[in-house]
Amino acid sequence: MARIAVLGGTGYTGGSIVREAASRGHHVTSYSRNAPAEPVPGVHYVQASFLEEGAVAAAVAGQDVVVEALAPRGELAGQLEGIVGDLAKLAPEQGARLVVIGGWSGLRPAEGAPRFVEGDVPAAFRAEAEEMVRALEALEQAAPEGLDWLFVSPAQTYGSYAQGEATGRYRIGGPVAQQDADGGSAISGADFALAVVDEIERHEHRGHIGVIS
Ligand SMILES: NC(=O)c1ccc[n+]([C@@H]2O[C@H](COP(=O)([O-])OP(=O)(O)OC[C@H]3O[C@@H](n4cnc5c(N)ncnc54)[C@H](OP(=O)(O)O)[C@@H]3O)[C@@H](O)[C@H]2O)c1
Repeated sequence: MARIAVLGGTGYTGGSIVREAASRGHHVTSYSRNAPAEPVPGVHYVQASFLEEGAVAAAVAGQDVVVEALAPRGELAGQLEGIVGDLAKLAPEQGARLVVIGGWSGLRPAEGAPRFVEGDVPAAFRAEAEEMVRALEALEQAAPEGLDWLFVSPAQTYGSYAQGEATGRYRIGGPVAQQDADGGSAISGADFALAVVDEIERHEHRGHIGVIS
């Protein structure tokens, strides 16, 4: 069983990953500022802000896998890029694998084409999308020596506004976006978490992947 830290483990994405990983018997520690409304039995919940000195290092220490499921919103807007950079430096020192949850708009419509973020992103999501793409590009271009990293982009229709249903199915692709049979792109929170925890256990991919249903 792996020791897994989930940063933002009470949020939409982090909460599903915490539930899925704990249900399989992994040793899960969740980090957030507030206590969870519905704690998952067996999960160790730590209340801390990643803007506090030393909080990022404390979350990485002793872990096999660190899942970054924070969002660059609120007080983390403009800060998450730096936190991912800190995680990238700290993870190899601890021998931990780093899994970063990003956005759909970091994917590309075709090989060599600009990322979706360079196109028509709704104004409400633009800053968030751009920050996660900067974090991705820092990993792609200057990952610290020895870092084992995975950046996971969900489907276009994904999030707390579209929770969907657990089907037990998902598809993993590379940095070029996949599409459903009808040309859409969606995944439920439960299926996305299933994919992330399967990937933690199987360790089949490295770099940037996308997950759709
Ligand atoms: N379709 C898409 O591409 C798509 C859609 C949705 C999300 N995403 C991406 O998925 C990732 C996760 O987003 P989400 O919507 O699942 O997040 P979320 O539900 O907003 O959860 C954020 C988590 O971070 C914690 N947090 C916030 N500020 C913190 C701080 N200063 N210190 C410690 N913990 C803090 C929150 O708990 P507290 O408030 O208690 O601290 C919560 O657990 C993001 O990168 C987002 O861009 C992509």
